[in-house]
Amino acid sequence: MEKTYVMIKPDGVQRNLTGEIINRFEKKGLKLTAMKFLRLSPEQAEAHYQEHVGKKFYDGLISFITSGPVVAMVWEGENAVSAARKLMGSTNPAEADPASIRGMYGLDLGRNIIHGADSVESARREIAIYFQTGELISYEKNIDQWIY
Ligand code: PPS
Repeated sequence: MEKTYVMIKPDGVQRNLTGEIINRFEKKGLKLTAMKFLRLSPEQAEAHYQEHVGKKFYDGLISFITSGPVVAMVWEGENAVSAARKLMGSTNPAEADPASIRGMYGLDLGRNIIHGADSVESARREIAIYFQTGELISYEKNIDQWIY
């Protein structure tokens, strides 16, 4: 099953959007496979955003993403990468679908609340920055077992 990497950025954590965001991903039907609350080291941030080295927003991006704790998650499901990107909305909140997370809660391109891998290959690379193989939990979901 496809896996994607999703990260609630420091602004999302500060604004108490963590529960709301996780709720949306769960309700969509994606399955949480791993989650960590952490503050990125400069090395992790640089590894994550290596493809943007040299761009004019790079320094600001690294300083923002290391400015406070984030929630790092792996979500699993059919077409998980594109499903997550649709839930998040376009990178620029001003252009995002108003029903999406960025469209509903964001205003600023730099502080756009959430990150999601843009391909299966990026997801694999990003997951490896934050999680060891044994930290990804494989389990069955059987709702009928818990609801009467
Ligand atoms: S690019 O050049 O088109 O590949 O960049 P883009 O996909 O638009 O953005 C890549 C990530 O950089 C963040 N970004 C910014 N951060 C701070 N300030 C400015 N001006 C800025 N512009 C882009 C953007 O939110 C993307 O972060 P992620 O975490 O990948 O969503």
